[in-house]
Amino acid sequence: MKKIIITGGAGFIGSHVVRRFVKTYPQYDIINLDKLTYAGNLANLKDIENEPNYRFVKGDIVDLEFINNLFAEEQPDAVIHLAAESHVDRSITNPLDFVMTNVVGTVNLLNAARNIWKGRYSETRFYHVSTDEVYGTLGEDGMFTEQTGYDPHSPYSASKAGSDHFVRAYHDTYGIDAIVSNCSNNYGSFHFPEKLIPLAINNIKQNKPVPVYGKGENIRDWLWVEDHARAIDVIFHKAKAGTTYNIGGHNEWKNIDLITLLCATMDKKLNRPEGTSAKLITFVTDRAGHDLRYAIDSTKLKNELGWVPSITFEEGLEKTVEWYLENEEWLDNVTSGHYQQYYNTQYNHR
Ligand code: NAD
Ligand code: TYD
Repeated sequence: MKKIIITGGAGFIGSHVVRRFVKTYPQYDIINLDKLTYAGNLANLKDIENEPNYRFVKGDIVDLEFINNLFAEEQPDAVIHLAAESHVDRSITNPLDFVMTNVVGTVNLLNAARNIWKGRYSETRFYHVSTDEVYGTLGEDGMFTEQTGYDPHSPYSASKAGSDHFVRAYHDTYGIDAIVSNCSNNYGSFHFPEKLIPLAINNIKQNKPVPVYGKGENIRDWLWVEDHARAIDVIFHKAKAGTTYNIGGHNEWKNIDLITLLCATMDKKLNRPEGTSAKLITFVTDRAGHDLRYAIDSTKLKNELGWVPSITFEEGLEKTVEWYLENEEWLDNVTSGHYQQYYNTQYNHR
């Protein structure tokens, strides 16, 4: 494999994947294809932007002509596809944006890859990065395995489910070498502060209310983003064509317990008296269709490819808090302008 297009490389997880590939594989030519929506930010890649094996191309995966031309010109050997609309709350307000980017955009990439890879599928690879949310919600017990049936509830998870089905259909119908991984909730540096952990860090820092949906009883399985990027690296290089891997941290947290731990960590880091930040916790109207619990069984990935998470949640959360406190400029930049408008629309009525 020589030339890899990584889509969505200016986003949260994508930037960690791009950084890892650029640094670990100097022999690869890495092209970061990103539209730079509100969630895409080239500042996420400042440290590697001048590396000789890295290039940025601005473009929209929904634009079929542009994608076909790019693939014809660049002749990539592989695609690692992360570009997506990724926030559940935004999908409730604007579902069509999610259908366009997540479903139509993915099919455009598959078509473009198929056009240039015909006859040499065994030397190429289409890696689709997806989410555990496609499996729907769990009750109090059980975990999602690769055999769990799809049962998405939000427009976001429905659009990701649609894209996963298309990727597998292109493998089964046309023989494309395609793989899918479904990962649990990520956290870490460069996470846009519309998602729970960075939003709470930002609000606590500014002494603003920390909105917890419903009673805070929903459970998510949290994985450090650099462990996800490492899993993608291992799967990309070792998985057999047509396979699926679940990726997760065996790290379930009730939202309210997570926020309580985060508040205690923030008090410590900001030298505030114990209990100060927890006073900011505010219960607000629940999300519509809010999935109760996600938990990933990643035994297949561990047994077949040897991947396990590298750090505990407490360590990862502390590193994350430190990163946000040390990178105030990044946080201030992404929370200026449109962010304020989003925040007011999203939270004022709750
Ligand atoms: P993100 O929202 O931070 O980044 C998405 C990136 O895609 C941005 O850089 C954005 O500019 C780009 N993009 C959006 N629409 C585009 C388009 N039409 N054309 C080109 N680029 C476009 O998302 P993330 O959290 O980094 O998630 C990345 C991928 O991983 C997504 O596919 C998501 O479904 C999946 N995933 C995320 C999580 C999580 O916890 N964040 C967990 C599992 C899977
Ligand atoms: P989020 O970070 O949006 O990820 P996802 O919905 O993809 O799991 O939300 C994580 C959990 O936190 C989810 O149960 C919704 C909840 N949540 C809040 O309680 N308050 C908030 O302000 C946000 C953004 C999320």
